[in-house]
Amino acid sequence: MAAARRAGDWRRTHTCGELRPAHVGQTVTLNGWVHKRRDHGGIYFVDLRDRYGLTQVVLGAQFSEALKLSGEDVIGVTGTVVVRDASNVNKERETGAIEVVAESLAILSKAKTPPIDVAASELPAVDTRLKYRYLDLRRPALQKNLIHRARLISAMRAAFERESFVEVETPVLTKATPEGARDYLVPSRVHPGSFFALPQSPQIFKQLLMVAGMDKYFQVARCFRDEDLRADRQPDFTQLDMEMSFVEEEDVFAVWERVLAATFREAMGIELVTPFPRLRHAEALERYGSDKPDVRFGLELVDVAAWAKKTEFKVFLGALERGGRVLGLNAGNVAFSRKEIEEGLNAVAALGGAKGLAWWKADAGGGTGSLARFAAGPLAGELMQLLSAKSGDLCLFVADAQSVARKSLNEVRLHLRAKLNLVDPKHYAFTWVTHFPLFTYDEDAKRWFSEHHPFTAPEDWALGGPGADPGQLMSRSYDLVMNGWELGSGSIRIHRSEVQERVFEILGIGPEERQEKFGFLLEALSYGAPPHGGFALGLDRTAALTAGLDNIRDVIAFPKTASAADLMCQAPSPVRPENLAEVHIQLAGQALTRAAKGAAAAADLTPK
Ligand code: AMO
Ligand code: AMP
Repeated sequence: MAAARRAGDWRRTHTCGELRPAHVGQTVTLNGWVHKRRDHGGIYFVDLRDRYGLTQVVLGAQFSEALKLSGEDVIGVTGTVVVRDASNVNKERETGAIEVVAESLAILSKAKTPPIDVAASELPAVDTRLKYRYLDLRRPALQKNLIHRARLISAMRAAFERESFVEVETPVLTKATPEGARDYLVPSRVHPGSFFALPQSPQIFKQLLMVAGMDKYFQVARCFRDEDLRADRQPDFTQLDMEMSFVEEEDVFAVWERVLAATFREAMGIELVTPFPRLRHAEALERYGSDKPDVRFGLELVDVAAWAKKTEFKVFLGALERGGRVLGLNAGNVAFSRKEIEEGLNAVAALGGAKGLAWWKADAGGGTGSLARFAAGPLAGELMQLLSAKSGDLCLFVADAQSVARKSLNEVRLHLRAKLNLVDPKHYAFTWVTHFPLFTYDEDAKRWFSEHHPFTAPEDWALGGPGADPGQLMSRSYDLVMNGWELGSGSIRIHRSEVQERVFEILGIGPEERQEKFGFLLEALSYGAPPHGGFALGLDRTAALTAGLDNIRDVIAFPKTASAADLMCQAPSPVRPENLAEVHIQLAGQALTRAAKGAAAAADLTPK
């Protein structure tokens, strides 16, 4: 039974999204923010807002205080629910059939004129939104995003629990984990000159949990990476991280297919088709020019080298002579003007580094376009066959080094996806991309790097034997790709210390550095480690994509700017000299000058 209410109690009996015609005649109390108000000659209409919705409140002439109400004031209203005249029903609003006629009003909190008009449909500038994030978060759209994210997490947690996974928290103050970004460092007060690193991921700890026999682990894990930020990257972000023992790739895939199917069903009412297709990394690059392909539409890349060799087109022949490739795609029968192709599409291809984009409107009679003069006679029909082109189809070509040709046509493909409306945004197409290379060579650093991370198992445990080319080695890592985004990554891990030692050796991590950085892991692997593997799903990306958003900032309550700053609390910020002394840190050079300027340095954090 509800507790008895005393007279004048301002606490709500209902939310602002709750009242319906069934409540007519009841005395209710609502709490919320003044969203909009209108003065109808002595009668005031207030739209009262809370997380649940909006309710119209009518304040009669006796409420002279109503005149003083401003937008975003916080009030409590007690009154009677009445049905609206048919002509006044607001069909757009769930509470639109009723209104509350006020009997008493309590002004709980006054609001200054806010820098963000919550009731307005147009958005203020990004830095205003970030500085006053708590106001921006009053907007129903952002609240909806956070609720959507919470539902996803809740459904995933339940699904992992059904699969007998145990949620374990791993440390935030820890040691560097090599995930490829820079670490955020935290100085130690009690160990002068020593630093913790914030985890880029719980990678090593989850492997140690497998050595510990926990068998199936998961965690909603906060990760920290000091890297260049983009729409899909924040310096602190969240992974749905997991690891399991005595498994191979297909076991990990099967768990995730069940978990994601349950999550999409429970959180969004969407039925996913499982199992997800598997695509080898090499095939993904060959067919789509990308290791995170959007497989919802065709426009696949076609190798036209053999055809190009029969032509006299110097651009194509030159690229082939230099060991490059000539790749093309058939965009279909699209009505693009010459200008749209030669300026628009050309600029899109240039994003991938292409120096040009050859085009051809296919026709057995020779067609039109920049390639037409090289596609005469039987060559026209041959090219049409190669590209499965019908007369009138627009075919586009890039001749360049393989990586440039692929990257450029991938850009063209993704541009056409939007321009030609080739996909249904509500269609979620997942693909496992497998068989990545184990190492990639960095020409600038003159050394090998792990394509995933150094704990990933090679396909060949003997690592190809002595003298083998590390570039030829295949790894047991995999990515989960959805609609052209990398949603997550994982791998089967190295569980034998001698293999792990050999990988460190190839990476140029010498015995001393190995001991210093990963000695504890190598030692752990020597005490009986089960074969194990796992995966981490980027939660921010998953939440953003499934909410139809293209920036993860909109599913994060308090995100950072592109220059990794929090505009609201002005972090990072200079600290007092005595606080620095406590952690044994002395500033030098630029840091010293900036710190001396104090507030000026903080102002520098605004996005560039
Ligand atoms: P990886 O580094 O690929 O793998 O990260 C896994 C997933 O985390 C998300 N992600 C990010 N999201 C937002 N902002 C970022 N800065 C950011 N960086 C990564 C992506 C990515 O696919 N320990 C391994 C996983 C494993 O092997 O089990 C790892 O962290 O969605
Ligand atoms: P040009 O010989 O410079 O007149 O170029 C003829 C056509 O080839 C133009 O449509 C160019 O855009 C195109 N082109 C130039 N370089 C490349 C390239 N590397 N790959 C594909 N097409 C190219």
